[in-house]
Amino acid sequence: MIGISKIAAYIPQRYVKMEDLALDRGDDPQKYLIGIGQKKMSVVGGNEDSISMALNSVRRLLDGMTQEEIAKIKLVIFATESSTDESKAGSLVLREYLGLPDNARYIELKEACYGATAGLEIAVDRVMLHPDEKVVVVASDIARYGLKSKGEVTQGAGSIAILVENKLNLAFEMISGASYYASSIPDFYRPTGESNAIVNGPLSNQTYLNFFKKVFTEFFENNSIAPCDLKLLNFHLPYTKIGIKALREIEPQISRNQYEEWERLFNSGKKLNALVGNIYTGSLYLNLLSNLYVENIKPGDLVGMYSYGSGSMGEFFVLKSTEILDLSPLRELLKSRQEVDVKSYEELYLQHSMDINQNWNSDGIRFSDFYLKEVKNGERIYQQATFD
Ligand code: CAA
Repeated sequence: MIGISKIAAYIPQRYVKMEDLALDRGDDPQKYLIGIGQKKMSVVGGNEDSISMALNSVRRLLDGMTQEEIAKIKLVIFATESSTDESKAGSLVLREYLGLPDNARYIELKEACYGATAGLEIAVDRVMLHPDEKVVVVASDIARYGLKSKGEVTQGAGSIAILVENKLNLAFEMISGASYYASSIPDFYRPTGESNAIVNGPLSNQTYLNFFKKVFTEFFENNSIAPCDLKLLNFHLPYTKIGIKALREIEPQISRNQYEEWERLFNSGKKLNALVGNIYTGSLYLNLLSNLYVENIKPGDLVGMYSYGSGSMGEFFVLKSTEILDLSPLRELLKSRQEVDVKSYEELYLQHSMDINQNWNSDGIRFSDFYLKEVKNGERIYQQATFD
């Protein structure tokens, strides 16, 4: 069987409460909590970037694997839209710090929030051709729209690492027959050299929903699986309210009971996305972890996956749960978060820098996790946090 054998997450330690952010911005907290559907937002300072966060998710992914198993990793795909370099693949830095094999391929992949899904599809195809090989796909992003911008409430940061292999005891088997759709849409950009995304909010929402309806419908036209075979749907969730809007799009296509059940499960399964914020390309996989976390998914369940990347790509595919993942590392991450106030969040936000020379300490980094220690003439140097 080919599919996902392991998933590991990294969630930054610091977060700001959406209620506090709303009050500071002169908005009704209910808009953020109910209208947008977010409770907390992960916050990073200058000492974290997409690579440091990926080091922390992949470190957890490799935990418990033998050297023999690690040696079988032949491809590491780094999916991000918050890349730190126009040339070098972030995955090569992971190789250096995590002791990944040198006789493997290391690349970086980009298509907004769709990158990790593209990586997953490539990984599955690779393992199908070479059943002895393993592939790591790591999604890592910092969502930035700007202080006091409309998109501010939909920011976040985090990383998800996925191990794809051919084995009997998988967490999720990949079911073949994905449906996908592409069109060049001007909904979202981050031009080279810019730190923050430029977004047309209403167009991005509408395109997300249009693409969902299209790929969802096409999937069931072209497969023997019916909507009622799926336990629930996982979504890319820039903010959790959009999942409810997506369900409403397909309401006429499914039975009343089915709609109510998917809505009920969505409302409990959005938990981690509401507590972390948008992590861009890892967001769909955070929703999958979240549904596992609240025990909405049991072995044998088929689950739908909607991936959306602005610009735009949409894809719908199905996974079959086979074994329950060990979520204790994720529980530890959630337990060890630290609240910061709005003023501190703003200070941390403004630390973000494109300078080719920087120096940082390990403030706000959990023991043993990696942080960006230095940028030396463009070279990024990472270190694990220790107790002083
Ligand atoms: N109590 C309860 N609800 C309230 C409220 C109150 N006091 N005040 C307002 N609301 C509701 C509104 O009615 C609205 O609900 P509906 O959408 O159901 O109508 C909701 O809160 C949001 O209000 P607005 O539409 O006024 O929100 P906004 O103009 O501030 O912008 C946004 C919202 C477009 C999501 C904006 O935050 C944004 O641009 N975010 C970045 C782009 C984005 O996330 N797009 C999503 C699709 S693109 C994608 O998926 C890729 C990606 O990751 C970026």
